[in-house]
Amino acid sequence: MSQPVIGVIGGSGLYQMDELIEVREEHVETPFGAPSDAYICGMLGNVKMVFLPRHGRGHRLLPSEVNYRANIYGMKTLGVERIISVSAVGSMKEAIVPGHIVIPDQFFDRTQGKRASTFFGKGVAGHVQFADPVCDDLAQVLQSSAKQVGAVVHKGGTYLCIEGPNFSTRAESNIYRSWGVDIIGMTNIPEARLAREAEICYATVALATDYDCWHAEHDDVSVEAVIAIIQKNVATARGIIQAAAKQLGNARGCGCGAALEFAIMTDKSLIPE
Ligand code: ADE
Repeated sequence: MSQPVIGVIGGSGLYQMDELIEVREEHVETPFGAPSDAYICGMLGNVKMVFLPRHGRGHRLLPSEVNYRANIYGMKTLGVERIISVSAVGSMKEAIVPGHIVIPDQFFDRTQGKRASTFFGKGVAGHVQFADPVCDDLAQVLQSSAKQVGAVVHKGGTYLCIEGPNFSTRAESNIYRSWGVDIIGMTNIPEARLAREAEICYATVALATDYDCWHAEHDDVSVEAVIAIIQKNVATARGIIQAAAKQLGNARGCGCGAALEFAIMTDKSLIPE
């Protein structure tokens, strides 16, 4: 059986994977335009890995400017079956301390409709199930990998995705907290949705970098503070990916690979090959 391919989408602070060997760059053209950068393909131990820096090398793209469809389409083209999304987030709960890792199991979409977020349309109507947007098998592997490398990890929780690029106002932050969300970020929607449509497992390693601006005893979030925490913890994120790669060698036992089985409404005879 051929070895599955693991995709890693690196967020702020994770722009390359130095641990890869036999590295080659793949520039992928997609029907949706150009991905954020070239894909860095290589081996991590015995596992084939495809790495993409979400914001491009040099961090050139705002969350709203990322071509999420091209990024996920490119991953699919390169044979990726599972995506580990690495993302910096704000903490919306006292117990999630900056430096902790969260593996969310839910997303709440507060983006503002600017992001192309489906592969469907143009004559093909499809509606994938998205009640559980995260692959729990992959999430479990990430949780155990995080424990292995000594991180404090919270399994489960809701990631609220804002449009950005500004951080939230204090009123917004307090209202989001009253909704019971756990973490806040700017990128996992529509990434998770597109991964599901592409029948790719998706789970996030979220690094809490700040308490947003709701916490009376902590400074309001700033880029400076986010970068400082990322620099301290990027090695942990890399360690989690390495540990996960060792556990992810086998075929998938989840349902993510069959997400389209009952999702297409359009008469099959009308769908072009
Ligand atoms: N990324 C890191 N911290 C964040 C915050 N507080 N809000 C939105 N995105 C973030």
